[in-house]
Amino acid sequence: MDKQDKLKNKLQQMQAQMIMLNEQVNVGGENQGGLYADLEEFSTLLEELSVAEEELRVQNEELENTRLAVEKERSRYLELFEFAPDGYLLSDKFGIILEVNQAMSLMLNTPAERLGGKPLALFIYSEDKKEFRNKLNNIGAVETIENWDLRLQPKKKEMIHSRVKITVKHKPTEKTFELFWMFHNVSDLVEITEMLRVSEANLKLLSNDLVSRIEDEKMKLSMDLHDHIGQALTCLKLSIRPNILMNKDYQEQKEILEIASQQIGEILDSVADLSLRLRPQLLDDLGLAKAISWRIKQVMKQTGSMIKENITLEIAKRFDTPVEITLYRIFEEALNNAVKHANANVITITLAEGDNAIKLTIADNGIGIDPSELEKESQHSGFTGMKERINMIGGTLQTTSKLGIGTTIQATAPII
Ligand SMILES: Nc1ncnc2c1ncn2[C@@H]1O[C@H](COP(=O)(O)OP(=O)(O)OP(=O)(O)O)[C@@H](O)[C@H]1O
Ligand SMILES: [Mg+2]
Repeated sequence: MDKQDKLKNKLQQMQAQMIMLNEQVNVGGENQGGLYADLEEFSTLLEELSVAEEELRVQNEELENTRLAVEKERSRYLELFEFAPDGYLLSDKFGIILEVNQAMSLMLNTPAERLGGKPLALFIYSEDKKEFRNKLNNIGAVETIENWDLRLQPKKKEMIHSRVKITVKHKPTEKTFELFWMFHNVSDLVEITEMLRVSEANLKLLSNDLVSRIEDEKMKLSMDLHDHIGQALTCLKLSIRPNILMNKDYQEQKEILEIASQQIGEILDSVADLSLRLRPQLLDDLGLAKAISWRIKQVMKQTGSMIKENITLEIAKRFDTPVEITLYRIFEEALNNAVKHANANVITITLAEGDNAIKLTIADNGIGIDPSELEKESQHSGFTGMKERINMIGGTLQTTSKLGIGTTIQATAPII
């Protein structure tokens, strides 16, 4: 029997006692002894009643404390729901929105009070609507749906990629259920994955391109070996042998040997040139500034071009190998272009360090590049190669050219 029943019992007993007492008072003085006994019992009952009342008061106090604690907990959960970083939404089984938290209202770009009563389908990206309806129609058969990639279409905003979890909440008394939706915004993740996919595809293209470039270069080298060095050696052999066999006099032999030694000198230059094209050893040994300076002198000697050197980069300073190789290859290509195409009086090479970068400039005062020529750049491997190389080390390439004025190529490579 709980405290309330006990109290009720006591009250009923007291009521009965009161009636009896009343009757005895009405009957009068004949039964004085019985009246006293009844009064005694009545006062005991009063005592018990006050104890029961006290117990009830304590019980009420406990109940109130529990109610307050429950209320506090409830508001804490409401806060968690309201300010959670993910979008939470409660809907009926047809997907009609009943309640949303702040994150959800932000995701749908609609105030929470305007979402209640609206079908969630309104905010589903058009291509996903069919799947959304199918899932919703069959949802009664399952308890939860997890990791469902569903695209949302907020009002007047870009589509959002979300990962959804749905929990079915049964309401046994009403023989129906509600749906508790959790939307996690994964748009950034999708964007990063897409960027990764594109850069992987680019990398594949680049590496294919690199392989074909290496093959081209090998072919050019083998042709150079055959055409230049092979032929020069054959000439040398042909010029020396019969002359020696003919037993010419000392003066004639001296002249032949002088020509031969000149030819050998040229062959040595070609070999040095080829080995430099394969891998600029000088670059490895001495660094960027010295290798560029050496090559400038060599090209001036070979072509007779006027090349001015403006190197302020600390001469012995070394940089990461990819940076040195990239800048050296760009220098080679741009200088080669200037010598081959520009018809310039002077070519100026500038190499300087500043703002955590190395700047390499190849400027000529030649004929300039026809803009239409630059547009067809895919046909020319030189320009494309320079751009790809600098991109690979996170640098930039700038080309400025004016017809009749000249061309300037500037490569900027970051250094840490
Ligand atoms: N400094 C320059 N002055 C004038 N024209 C130039 C200069 N540099 C390049 N060009 C023009 O731009 C074109 C593209 O140059 P690019 O280096 O891409 O190809 P290329 O030198 O013709 O061939 P490759 O470098 O593949 O041997 C050249 O054919 C030339 O017409
Ligand atoms: Mg070129």
